[in-house]
Amino acid sequence: SYANRYDFIIVGGGTSGLVLANRLSEDPNLTVAVVEAGDSVFGNPNVTSSTGYGLAFGTDIDYAFQSTPQEHAGNKSQILRAGKALGGTSTINGMVYLRAETSQIDAFAKLGNNISWDSLLLYYKKAEGLQRPTEIQSQLGATYEANQHGFEGPLTVGWPTEMVGNNFSQTLNTTYAAMGLPWNEDPNGGHMRGWNVYPQTSDPSANLREDAARAYYFPFSGRANLHLYLNSSVQRITWEAQSNTTLPSASGVAYKDASGAEEQLLANKDVILSAGSLVSPLILERSGVGNPAILKQFGIEPKIDLPNVGENLQDQTTGSYGTTANLNLTGTSDYVAYLNIHDIFGDDTEQLREHVQSSIPAWADEAVADSGGTANRTAIQQLFEIQHSMIFDDEVVISEVLVKAPSEGSGSISYWGLMPFSRGNIHISSANASAPAYINPNYFQLDYDVSQLVGTVKAARRNANTAPLKNFLPTETSPGLDVVPANAPKEVWAEWLKSTYRSNFHYISTAAMMPKEMGGVVGDDHLVYGSANVRVVDASVLPFQVSGHLTATLYALAERAADVIKAAHA
Ligand code: FDA
Repeated sequence: SYANRYDFIIVGGGTSGLVLANRLSEDPNLTVAVVEAGDSVFGNPNVTSSTGYGLAFGTDIDYAFQSTPQEHAGNKSQILRAGKALGGTSTINGMVYLRAETSQIDAFAKLGNNISWDSLLLYYKKAEGLQRPTEIQSQLGATYEANQHGFEGPLTVGWPTEMVGNNFSQTLNTTYAAMGLPWNEDPNGGHMRGWNVYPQTSDPSANLREDAARAYYFPFSGRANLHLYLNSSVQRITWEAQSNTTLPSASGVAYKDASGAEEQLLANKDVILSAGSLVSPLILERSGVGNPAILKQFGIEPKIDLPNVGENLQDQTTGSYGTTANLNLTGTSDYVAYLNIHDIFGDDTEQLREHVQSSIPAWADEAVADSGGTANRTAIQQLFEIQHSMIFDDEVVISEVLVKAPSEGSGSISYWGLMPFSRGNIHISSANASAPAYINPNYFQLDYDVSQLVGTVKAARRNANTAPLKNFLPTETSPGLDVVPANAPKEVWAEWLKSTYRSNFHYISTAAMMPKEMGGVVGDDHLVYGSANVRVVDASVLPFQVSGHLTATLYALAERAADVIKAAHA
């Protein structure tokens, strides 16, 4: 036993935290503790089912946080889901395995970070254990480029066990050809435009969800140097006695165990926060790291003045378009189409490019105002310029349109706007860790985001109304032509979208990896600015959205972080 002292304490045994726990404990000379608020869900059928997306929602493994009323969307608040379990949000998510556009990862380097697509690709591969499609899966549309993938990594990735037949992928191929959208052999190679039958984090032969615990923890749980504390909720970081000559250094963490008693663990080396983008910034604040004005309001002694903790919160929005259907397919493969700015806006693209460009100064003003004045205007403007360039110069995909195979009389197409500019924030509302936080994603703060989602849902409608798919989806039920007529103006679409959208649960950037002067909280070594040994490794650090879904990139980033942390202590 190590009593209560470890080299590394990892706060949060989720998607990112378990990658770190695994890789750091590979070295038998390093001791590692994982402190996880939730329990093991190894045998929980709401988790293990590879076709049961949504079953875990509203159960005790779903935090179901509430946002503040959303000022730009009818003052309604949103449910912000996240997983409370060993494995974190990977135990309740949609299992989509899709990475990013090359330029979105290269944008890290534009902010001074030593991360590029080429360097991260090694870690995408290191994490991944792709299960090659069977002959039948290949016939039903599963394709990949072998040189983009890893086959030996811990994270099992594959195509659904029961894929949809009836030539449905051929139907879509002809439909998208008519829309001018090509087949993409492998959207995980950094170029996402086109349509594809995407892989997921599931094990096709066992027909089980693959989550972070199944991939990175359970097969390694026997390691003597890796200790797991379940049902243990970290309240705050504890600090070494302050000296004037060195940076503040964490001594460990204080946590509440299952009985509610407060306990402490001590760290020889680092405390690493991997509690997710809606918790890690709050732990920093409760530990005295953040905006002194906010901390003092709740009686917390400021330790490190870092006003951007909890700022820069970004999330995408999503919704569902519905039809009747005269085709009843079985199987669970979904079909994803990714569209860029030209696919969505056609001849209007140039006008939009100029509109966005000329709006950036005013948008930066608005973002600064909504941050309570903490954001640096020049920096926000620079971030918006980079985002503009990704959208209009690099032509990253901005829209995701996901067709579900029609069954039982109905068809459904989900749509996502992928590159919103809006920025909100998250802060504590009390020194007490069990009090709900103030979480404001600020959806639709900036007008581009409305245009992007309107353009995206119109693409979904166009998709449903293009033959041959059209022949199987006779009547639109949602929104319905009575609610949003053909050729409805943007305002009519916007009103419907704002009353029906939901969070895409892709919250990022609340402890962003970028220079401190630009609003960053960590450097590319994941160290919190101004601290000797506190790091953040989770979705909080992503400075920009990625057009894929988050876990593929988070697993890769955590793999990289493990190497960086090992090297720092070598
Ligand atoms: P993650 O949430 O995984 O881990 C944080 C861990 O910290 C949790 O285990 C939590 O219990 C623990 N914790 C929190 N507070 C603590 C405390 N005080 N003390 C101790 N432990 C604490 N992505 C994707 O790639 N494909 C998809 O299909 C989807 N679909 C999807 C659906 C839904 C419903 C959601 C909510 C999200 C998705 N996502 C997704 C997003 C993706 O799953 C998500 O971004 C990542 O799993 C987040 O990983 P992190 O490591 O940042 O945190």
